[in-house]
Amino acid sequence: MNNLFYEIDYQGKIVSDFFVLPQEPKTQKIFPIDINNDIAEELKFFLIKKFLFISNGYLFYTPPGYKSAIHVDGISLHQRPALNFVLNSNRLGIMKWYKLKDGISVPLPELTSNATMYLQVEENDTEEIAQHNLKKLCLVHTGIFHNIENPDEIGRWCISIRFDQRLSFNTVLNKLISAELS
Ligand SMILES: [Fe+2]
Repeated sequence: MNNLFYEIDYQGKIVSDFFVLPQEPKTQKIFPIDINNDIAEELKFFLIKKFLFISNGYLFYTPPGYKSAIHVDGISLHQRPALNFVLNSNRLGIMKWYKLKDGISVPLPELTSNATMYLQVEENDTEEIAQHNLKKLCLVHTGIFHNIENPDEIGRWCISIRFDQRLSFNTVLNKLISAELS
């Protein structure tokens, strides 16, 4: 088991019947989602039984043929995960993780075009350490440098659920794979 991604054994609904995709943008974009209305009750219940409570969430759009910048979400390196689900998951859309090459220091935070903070590095300053094509509900590490490549001819829509910021990838993973409360 690695500590970068883990596919969750969950076959239920992810988004509620009220959820509608926004109009397809021309560029990479981050939309906020409304946890109360957009996420399926079935998924919330699955998480609550494992003592996991959703704090917020995003909807990421990656255009066809697009490779996003290599980054860490937030203002510093961290251990936090996201629970991601690609809505059109029968298509290609690869998440990759990287380490900084020797001698390259962690950059200062920048503001993204979507008004969130991130640490961004050049591809030349990194080495790929893992990649995964998200086909199912998947816990992913967001505190290690990563990006998304969408070689497909259609856009990639990805729901990304976040938890209490004090919970690390490993803590959330252990809760997710623990036996359900009866
Ligand atoms: Fe990210």
